[in-house]
Amino acid sequence: MGLLSGDALFSVAVAVVIFLLLVDLMHRRQRWAARYPQGPIPVPGLGNLLQVDFRNPAYSFYKLRRRFGDVFSLQFAWTPVVVVNGLAAVREALVTHGEDTSDRPPTATSELIGFGPRSQGIIRAPYGPAWREQRRFSVSTLRNFGLGKKSLEQWVTEEASCLCDAFANHAGQPFRPNALMSKAVCNVITSLIYARRIEYDDSVMIRLTELLENGLKEDNALLLQLVNSVPLLTRIPWVAAKVLRSQRSIIALIHDLLTEHSTAWDPDQPPRDLTDAFLNEVHKAKGNSENSFNDENLRLVISELFLAGMVTTSVTLSWALLLMILHPDVQCRVQREIDEVIGQGRRPEMADQALMPFTNAVIHEVQRFADIVPMGVPHMTSRDTEVQGFCIPKGTKLITNLSSVLKDETVWEKPLQFHPEHFLDSEGRFVKREGFMPFSAGPRICLGEPLARMELFLFFTCLLQRFSFSVPEGQPRPSDRGTVLFVASPPPYQLCAVAR
Ligand code: HEM
Repeated sequence: MGLLSGDALFSVAVAVVIFLLLVDLMHRRQRWAARYPQGPIPVPGLGNLLQVDFRNPAYSFYKLRRRFGDVFSLQFAWTPVVVVNGLAAVREALVTHGEDTSDRPPTATSELIGFGPRSQGIIRAPYGPAWREQRRFSVSTLRNFGLGKKSLEQWVTEEASCLCDAFANHAGQPFRPNALMSKAVCNVITSLIYARRIEYDDSVMIRLTELLENGLKEDNALLLQLVNSVPLLTRIPWVAAKVLRSQRSIIALIHDLLTEHSTAWDPDQPPRDLTDAFLNEVHKAKGNSENSFNDENLRLVISELFLAGMVTTSVTLSWALLLMILHPDVQCRVQREIDEVIGQGRRPEMADQALMPFTNAVIHEVQRFADIVPMGVPHMTSRDTEVQGFCIPKGTKLITNLSSVLKDETVWEKPLQFHPEHFLDSEGRFVKREGFMPFSAGPRICLGEPLARMELFLFFTCLLQRFSFSVPEGQPRPSDRGTVLFVASPPPYQLCAVAR
């Protein structure tokens, strides 16, 4: 009897293995289609998950690109993935075929943080009417901000002054600037969303920036990929608790702020900020079940704007100051330009940018070199499409390797070095470059790009107008190699900010 049950157990095990192998095979059928891009052989179950270093995807993809070319395929567990590399292929995928490549792959983790059929946010929303409605709303609110009492430029300029005061408090002594810059950038988003700033030493601000820092350090990229490829895993409580822990806490905190703000909303008054404008739309849409303006979506859209707008901009500013202490000659040239165009008597304004080609080139080069979203945000094909002669079937996850464009050897003279001359002509005039793609391209291009550019220019010039930055005496020169988790952050460093 015991032997029999042992036999039966063996047969069941064999049947399960055969079943899983068949399912696995079924998920690989795309690979046999004509002109499907080549790639490394996936192992059953995991696919190529263990062949990619998710702590340094840019390097893994660099090696795979050398083997398989600009467009290659991977398999993440059961999810087919195509990686697109280099300026020509990335432009073709995102811009020429933007109508076919702008969907987002569904992620099992989204449900864990509250996304649902009527609350899709913007970043994660499928390419369809709800995304279009929300994107149009955010773009126009960002553009029209300023109809209220204060323009967004005024908010940023005043925040830059507060940031300079906080730097001055360190009286030239060594400190880590990251947290202060996160707080300043956070206040630009709070001004947009809640029409108010939060003091740097307020407990809410401290908690928010701590959660963001922790989120940046959360090293679970492989687990996330696995969970998104095998959604059943989210049913395991340990997994569900581990993934996106800090993102959920941030959303909860933002929710509290929102509740407080919404109680003071008056539909008969002009909107004070983006939240009021959204609540007005919710009011108008009452009874229309097709509409994406509802209370759940308000929470998610606001959280996404917060997360997307804060981390990216403050990490870029951290890179900017790091690169200034590592390249004092560049810092001096920026300061010379500031002195000539703005002087010390007034604050920088956006109108100054056109007269400051070197500073503009330096900011662009910081973004190119820092390469903070190296793999972009994943896309998905909504129709069969063709890139560089390869067929990519509908429903394929697309990774547009922005790093391969920002560091493309055929585009940049010194792709791996910090070289502001990439954006200057022989006469010292600023030149735009097609390969400058840190905000991605096509219909899904970052919608916060104008705000981010304004923040980078105003914060950077205000800081360099007031201070000279240097590596603290006796400390080793920090490295200029970042760590990639969600975004590429600079290594931890300290600096001295000495008033000029
Ligand atoms: C230096 C700063 C920034 C960088 C480098 C950056 C980069 C990016 C990138 C690479 C994407 C993905 C585009 C794609 O899917 O192809 C993106 C999307 C997005 N960004 Fe940014 N971003 C920055 C700042 C901001 C700011 C300040 C905001 C808002 C206040 C913002 C809001 C968004 C949103 C909502 C999306 C999703 C767009 C969509 O799916 O339609 N970003 N960003």
